[in-house]
Amino acid sequence: MNTSEAEALRQKEIMNRLKEHINGLSKELGRPLTYYSVCFGCQMNAKDSEKLEGILETIGYVRTDSEDCDFLIMNTCTVRENANLRVYGRLGQLKKYKKKNPHMMIALCGCMMQESLVVEKIKQSYRHVDIIFGTHNVFKLAELIEMKLNTTDMVIDIWEGTSEIVEDLPSERKYDFKCGVNIMFGCNNFCTYCIVPYVRGRERSRKPEDIIKEIEELVADGVVEVMLLGQNVNSYGKTLEPSITFAELLRRIEKIEGLKRIRFMTSHPKDLSDELIDVMAKSKNICKHLHLPVQSGSSKILNDMNRHYTKEQYLALVDKIKTAIPDISLTTDIIVGFPTETEEDFMETLDVVRKVRYDSAFTFIYSKRTGTPAASMEFASSEQEIKERFDMLLKEVQNIAKETCARFEGNIDEVLVEGINEQDSSLVTGRLSNNLLVHFPGTEDMVGKFYKVKLTKAMGFYYMGEIVEETRN
Ligand code: SAH
Ligand code: SF4
Ligand code: F3S
Repeated sequence: MNTSEAEALRQKEIMNRLKEHINGLSKELGRPLTYYSVCFGCQMNAKDSEKLEGILETIGYVRTDSEDCDFLIMNTCTVRENANLRVYGRLGQLKKYKKKNPHMMIALCGCMMQESLVVEKIKQSYRHVDIIFGTHNVFKLAELIEMKLNTTDMVIDIWEGTSEIVEDLPSERKYDFKCGVNIMFGCNNFCTYCIVPYVRGRERSRKPEDIIKEIEELVADGVVEVMLLGQNVNSYGKTLEPSITFAELLRRIEKIEGLKRIRFMTSHPKDLSDELIDVMAKSKNICKHLHLPVQSGSSKILNDMNRHYTKEQYLALVDKIKTAIPDISLTTDIIVGFPTETEEDFMETLDVVRKVRYDSAFTFIYSKRTGTPAASMEFASSEQEIKERFDMLLKEVQNIAKETCARFEGNIDEVLVEGINEQDSSLVTGRLSNNLLVHFPGTEDMVGKFYKVKLTKAMGFYYMGEIVEETRN
């Protein structure tokens, strides 16, 4: 048994002990013990929350959607300042529940907890928090709960980094038919604005066998779509022995019987290979969607951001992708107001947006993150100028997206139904391979199944449709 397997076993033993404890407590109180889980941030964090929820369910907590619960876990994000502020706001409001229910536990974890100043602040100002841990030891939740049961102190366990990947622990899936799968952890790119490499540690790839085994188990359990997760999936496998490319991993995953859709994010433009474009172009199961963050259209800013590509290289890459996969949908992330950005640089960003014509773009105002190289750069523009640029970009992005998304109107395309429409229960909502949503008449039993749907009307960022026939189920 290797150390990772031994660790998984040890955690399972602790879960068994805790299960008895929770069961006893539940009998005493005459009701099930509940947990409330909230997650901020990206898909990597969402996946971590599924693992945390898996552990909580295993030891006997039952999910609730009220903060008035027995165990509250908040998985935090620190990529931008406003993500942090939300956490402090929520934390303050939790005191009242704890007063009412003294054995309630409050746990904080995730990227924000990897910052020592944050932990100091919580220790001083939020004494009602019971457990704090970080991004590297999510698998230890049961052990931390057990520790807290034996002490009145705040349990704090933050790791600087790790080389270990603990496999095979429980995970509570949000959907029956689709699931995120980590293929790698951490990031080595150190874009100068970004805190992720500091809070998620160095890049580590999971072994292809472990990834494939997990997906096979998911498929056996009814999953038809996976989303492969990593901060930069295009550098997957480079540090493994023997090394393997992301494109090769995709080829192997494609062969899994019963798996019908494969998505992945995020792709860093600097590492996107011709091999990957080729695999995507030939594949029936890899979805026709690429999230390809550009961040800025100015080569000077891209250099200051340490992105390792120029405007021209990015545009050439986009052309190559569109030529090989004409119906691909491209989405992106853009930062406005990077410290050295001038009006001229911003115009370059607008130019890229107009040339690529994204299906959608997430736009962010630069947020200073302490400890990153950009945090000590002087601002070339005023706050007012940056705000005006942001508004202008948002308008442009939305106008273009509306037109781009409409290009499939009238087509018949395959949709995976994800659920009943939230506004109108006579409709179901499904997703196209290119990630756009379609609403059409349907019923609950269609969830998780594929249908050919006519895209009768483009509605801006989504379609209304009509079912043509059932497929591939
Ligand atoms: N690994 C992914 C992105 C992870 S963070 C990638 O490289 O594309 C998601 C997005 O948040 C980034 O693409 C970036 O646009 C934005 N972001 C990251 N740090 C930021 C900061 N300091 N201020 C504003 N936006 C930021
Ligand atoms: Fe951050 Fe850059 Fe890594 Fe993405 S690639 S997580 S933006 S450092
Ligand atoms: Fe946020 Fe951490 Fe993801 S900082 S964006 S949750 S990796």
